[in-house]
Formats: sequence, C-alpha cells, structure tokens
Amino acid sequence: MTTYPILPRHVAIIMDGNGRWAKQHKIKIALGHRTGVEALRAIIRESSDLGIEALSLYAFSTENWKRDPGEVEALMGLLLEFFTSEIDELHEKNVCIRILGDKDGMPEKQRTALISAEERTKDNTGLKLNIAINYGGRAELARAARILAKKAAAGEIDPDAIDEAMVADALYTRGLPDVDLLIRTSGEMRLSNFLLYQCAYAEFLFPTVLWPDFSLADYHQALDAFAKRDRRYGGRNS
Ligand code: FPP
Repeated sequence: MTTYPILPRHVAIIMDGNGRWAKQHKIKIALGHRTGVEALRAIIRESSDLGIEALSLYAFSTENWKRDPGEVEALMGLLLEFFTSEIDELHEKNVCIRILGDKDGMPEKQRTALISAEERTKDNTGLKLNIAINYGGRAELARAARILAKKAAAGEIDPDAIDEAMVADALYTRGLPDVDLLIRTSGEMRLSNFLLYQCAYAEFLFPTVLWPDFSLADYHQALDAFAKRDRRYGGRNS
C-alpha cells in the first residue's frame, strides 16, 4: 500500500463524464452510470484502506431531476441497488455512511434504503463516506439559515453570536473537516453547486479522464499532486 507524507483528511469527488463515456462506447447512458458505480466502489475501498478520514461523492444533484425521465429512473435504480447490495461490505469495513441532501424529496424506496444505511453504519469509526443525493450547495446554505433563524426566534441563540462554526454546524457535513481536495473528472472545471461552504480552502484537481475510466492509478496521481501543493490559507508559508 502506498503511503503519503500528507494525506487529505477530506476528499470530495464530482464523478463527471458517465454520459460522454457511454457515448464514446456507443452504449446506453444507464450503462455509463453503471460502469461509474464500479469506479466508485474501487475508490471507496481504496480511501478506506488508505485511512482517509472523509470521502464525499456527488451522486445526484437537485438539478439532475431535469434530465430525461429514463436517465433519472436508471440513476434511482442504481442508487437503490447500491444502498442494498453494498451495505454489508461497507459495514464490515467499518464505514460510516451519511447522506448529504434532502432525503424527503426522494422516492419512498430509495428514502428508506438511505435512512437504513445511515442508521446501520452510524456508530462505525472508519471512513466517513458522504454521498450527496438530491443535494445542492445553495439549498444546503438556505437550510442552515432556516435552522439558525428558528433557533434565534426560539431564543436559543443570540443572532449576534452566529459565527462560522455555528453555520458549519447547521450544514449536512456537521462535524466533518473542510474539504482538502476536490477532484472533478472529465476536464470540466466547475463546482456545480457542490459543497460551496466546505470547499473554501480546498485544492482543486480536474483530471481529463471520464469517471468510468478513473482508476486507482488516477486516484494515486491526484493524491500525489495534492501532497505537493503549497497550502497557505491566505497567509504566507516562508
Ligand atoms: C455525471 O456524469 C454523473 C452523474 C450525474 C451521476 C453520478 C452517479 C453515479 C456514478 C452512479 C450513482 C451513484 C451511486 C452512489 C450508486 P454525466 O452523466 O453528467 O456525464 P456527461 O457530462 O458526460 O454527460
């Protein structure tokens, strides 16, 4: 197993390019997403074995509902499959699963499977695996504002005392470290509403490989590149 002098505590991945990969291979888009799930399984296992503290994956955004109904259905099917067939192995690996996003807006079967995966793995102390589903960064911030506004209206907190830590505590990622490394595959260089608050000081990498082709070697290359970055957080290092 490769060891790194500096390992990111929190890696976030935008798994982009399943559609283009399917097109390149002249196969249905659903099969592109299915192959994407294979890549994701390998990256989860590797992150756990490397001892990375948290891994956040963007699986389905609030904007993805706008896609063709057949594609949405395929993604919902894959999510259900993943959250039923993978949980035993993830639980065995001591992985703690958290869903980032609005579970209440999900179809009933998927919602039940997501809640059950969280419930079953909640006391696990290994990799913190966060899967963003029906997630949007702006919606998450608006939700945090509502949580804090309700507390202030109930007299539980002083509005003037609201600080960055309190905002962070009202996010889905409560208790997790900030994102250190964000990877978006397929060469697109956008955040697309993913973890807007949590990526304030993240290092960004945009490998051109399409997600279904993203290999362990690509992941190691990204971790190597991260280890060489000079992180200053607005200050000076020398
Ligand atoms: C982006 O590729 C990918 C997605 C919108 C979905 C990612 C989902 C998975 C890998 C599978 C489901 C996840 C789990 C956890 C089971 P794209 O379709 O936007 O690619 P394109 O830009 O080439 O069209």
